[in-house]
Amino acid sequence: MPQLLNARDYRDAARKRLPTALFEYIDRGTEDELAIDGIRKSLDAIRLAPRILTGHAERNLQTTVLGQQTGMPLIVAPTALAGMVSHNGEVKLARAAARMGIPFCISTQSVTTIEEVRDGAPDALLWFQLYMWKDRNLSRKLLERVAASGATTLVVTADTPVGPKREYNNRNGFSIPLKYSVRGGIDVLTHPHWFFGVLLRYLMTTGMPTYGHYPKEFRSAVTRPSVSEAVKLENLLKWDDVRQLRQWWKGKLVIKGVLSLQDAIKACELEADGIVVSAHGGRNLDIAPAPAEVLPAIAEAVGHRTEILADSGVMRGSDVLKYLSLGASSVMVGRLPLWGLAANGEAGANALFQMLRDEIDVTLAMLGLRTPNGI
Ligand SMILES: Cc1cc2nc3c(=O)[nH]c(=O)nc-3n(C[C@H](O)[C@H](O)[C@H](O)COP(=O)(O)O)c2cc1C
Repeated sequence: MPQLLNARDYRDAARKRLPTALFEYIDRGTEDELAIDGIRKSLDAIRLAPRILTGHAERNLQTTVLGQQTGMPLIVAPTALAGMVSHNGEVKLARAAARMGIPFCISTQSVTTIEEVRDGAPDALLWFQLYMWKDRNLSRKLLERVAASGATTLVVTADTPVGPKREYNNRNGFSIPLKYSVRGGIDVLTHPHWFFGVLLRYLMTTGMPTYGHYPKEFRSAVTRPSVSEAVKLENLLKWDDVRQLRQWWKGKLVIKGVLSLQDAIKACELEADGIVVSAHGGRNLDIAPAPAEVLPAIAEAVGHRTEILADSGVMRGSDVLKYLSLGASSVMVGRLPLWGLAANGEAGANALFQMLRDEIDVTLAMLGLRTPNGI
């Protein structure tokens, strides 16, 4: 295993380990990938001036998010199919997050169910991300399971009304559900570490992975060609539905994918406990503004009424601090934990979180700050 010193090293290691189609599904954006580029540039353009001679012996990275105390201002973002990156990937991520005292947000489209994650990682601070299904009663039943599993926070993803146009997925053969193809077969067989360590392990134990949360009667292996109408993602979601969700869900409720001031205000009017100012990692709308561009105005307008989280493009601890400096209270990371997982399973995720923690710590010290909130 080469020395993995920064996020790029982990990404390179993941590229070697994962089939190309899976690597690109995680790594890339949409259409012309302008959003990914814009997110990076927006973060690179931010400079933070240090204060000198502030005399802090050590930093304290602890903070609170939505009333929960956390080890640092980081949250593991929901990522579909994290369980395809490593065997039992979602459980491993939840354990690694628990070790750092940070929340792990499980996706509706995970391979492993929230019950299995809770059992495998009893100390995890569990959040749940909702993609509403067309059959809303099924979603309601799922939320009952989520509540029973002890998840504190519901993250409603509101920025995905249709499937995005990701042309590289067509070229490299990746689709959900996955389909068998000669090209796909070659891709898998030329990545034996993944074939033996992930796919074959599933096949020999629980069988071909499925979307774990989908009700049994609709659950198909990720290789089956069709997904039933009832569990297609609801493309007709409206603000009124948030009102409905408020009734169904008694815990904290967060709207993910806010990029306009009007929507941030609307979320506050509906008493959302938080919003995630997010461009979905540049994976959905290619002409969307970068979160860093819109965050200051949103934070100024509604920061006193709701908790503001941000995500997209974090590659360094300093990127986390940049989002905090613009008004976020904590930051979600999507791809990086997957790179850690791909590089070396749970140990890789642990090491990656520790690396981010160290980077945040060093940057805070350089800035002359003792706590992230002081930024
Ligand atoms: C492979 C992958 C799958 C994702 N799946 C979901 C999902 O199921 N639900 C969701 O709300 N966001 C999903 N996202 C978006 C992340 O939650 C997050 O907004 C984004 O990854 C942040 O950008 P970053 O990857 O640059 O940190 C996914 C992102 C990736 C990379």
